[in-house]
Amino acid sequence: MTEDYGLRTEDYLWWRDGVIYQIYPRSFADSNGDGIGDLPGIIARLDHLSELGVDAVWLSPVYPSPMYDFGYDVSDYCEIDPVFGTLADFDRLVQQAHQRGLRIIMDLVLNHSSHQHPWFVESRASRDNPRRDWYIWRDGATGGKLPNNWQSFFGGPAWEWDERTQQYYLHSFLKEQPDLNWRNPAVKEALFDVVRFWLERGVDGFRLDVFNLYFKDALFRDNPPRPGLRGYDRQWHVYDKDQPEMHPLLRELRALLDRYPERMAVGETFSDHPIEMAAAYYGENNDELHLAFNFHFTQQPWRARAFHEAIAQWEAALRPGAWPCYVLSNHDVVRHASRYAAGLHTDARAQVAAALLLTLRGTPFLYYGEEIAMRQGQIPRAEIQDPVGKRYWPFHKGRDGCRTPMPWDDSPNAGFSVNPPWLRVNPDYRERNVAAQRQDPNSVFHWYRRLIALRRTSPALRRGAYRPLIRRPVHALAYLREAPEQTLLVALNFSSRPVLAVLDEPLPARDWHALLSTADRPELELLGNSLALAPYEACVLGMA
Ligand code: NOJ
Ligand code: CA
Repeated sequence: MTEDYGLRTEDYLWWRDGVIYQIYPRSFADSNGDGIGDLPGIIARLDHLSELGVDAVWLSPVYPSPMYDFGYDVSDYCEIDPVFGTLADFDRLVQQAHQRGLRIIMDLVLNHSSHQHPWFVESRASRDNPRRDWYIWRDGATGGKLPNNWQSFFGGPAWEWDERTQQYYLHSFLKEQPDLNWRNPAVKEALFDVVRFWLERGVDGFRLDVFNLYFKDALFRDNPPRPGLRGYDRQWHVYDKDQPEMHPLLRELRALLDRYPERMAVGETFSDHPIEMAAAYYGENNDELHLAFNFHFTQQPWRARAFHEAIAQWEAALRPGAWPCYVLSNHDVVRHASRYAAGLHTDARAQVAAALLLTLRGTPFLYYGEEIAMRQGQIPRAEIQDPVGKRYWPFHKGRDGCRTPMPWDDSPNAGFSVNPPWLRVNPDYRERNVAAQRQDPNSVFHWYRRLIALRRTSPALRRGAYRPLIRRPVHALAYLREAPEQTLLVALNFSSRPVLAVLDEPLPARDWHALLSTADRPELELLGNSLALAPYEACVLGMA
């Protein structure tokens, strides 16, 4: 395959130089009025993505699913759920995306399937079924006890008793999501066939759901105890994830991807562990994942120092040649506009956060709606859909709030659907929507657009080294992005007041001019070795 989607140049590699945009398909655009977003809806909105300037779309799962975990419970890996459309719709999406220079990344959920997947239906039919060993079955321990102390991330033991065959099966998430047995070569072959299926359909990359859970300890040893709040956090996950067998498997997967041009895999390294663990999945010779998510950014408080340290740690953890990536929001966490809410300053903060995300050394991942600083939705208890919210309310309200429908305009249902959507639209949709922000040159949307456009044309932002200029930042970050052909300076004021950010390294005073700034700033203002920044100013400066 040698298509040129119009973007390829010697120096431009989409997943490394570009910006990736996550769509939660249920919530992006509904084409047929059933209140649920779908593939034709996404196709109809591709112009928005082109206008924003992103390079690739990661689709959360669109496979057939009974939707216990809204698609993260797959009952057929090689089809499209009718609620989202058909394989023909999918082919059309790939084709139309490619025409616009947009790549498509599929979400591969291969740690577990749905309990309704025919493989599991067979597996649980009898102990001697040929597919019995496709999932993880164990006898109870003596005295009618569970096989071991492993916990489900969604609450309770990870083991479910099967009355008919008198054994337990393992589920790291819901009991409707039984874990596949990756130690069985037939399972591995079947799942690699799934990867091939989508590669042959023209998919450009994959996001691997909780891949570091594929292998479990061969001896099923108990996890050691740990102080923590919930059952899942009350143990060290030594034996139910991050097993050494994962590395050779990733190398095999990489070899498969490498048989096709410019394909990539980004892994969801699951649950809190040191970022060195995420970094390890790039492989000792950078021959495993292309990118591994590092979720530390989604956990930082609104403090310049916190981000400074998180960046330094990630830069230090990665081996030479491993390429970082950054993310602030996704379908599992509270939207960052709300995490960093500060009354009237919330949009200003969202703009600083955007400037950070889009000027770091590493691939930025955006989450639908963040380009208009979409807020976390408030879903009343009776309307909760997410199994996590249903189980843990009111301690954890679940993940529905970050999955509310994209507000496209101020018409009823926010232009998302002609009918009431599966989750209620955000109450502010009449003011905060895509159409309104397109019309306002000072909107968050246009700020994202400008940042993305600058990144695309700037060798320093795409590939340049990252050099922080403030060693112990308090209110502001300042850093250089240095490429052989270009050096840019980025300065971000995290505070609502003007600051004088003291640099630890001198800068030439006269040569800098603003390429982008949230403040009305033509020139860099240097007072001695201090940089004067307006409240919540975010700026990118170049040398004349
Ligand atoms: C991680 C996904 O991001 C999350 O949404 C899902 O519930 C679990 N994996 C289980 O697949
Ligand atoms: Ca629909």
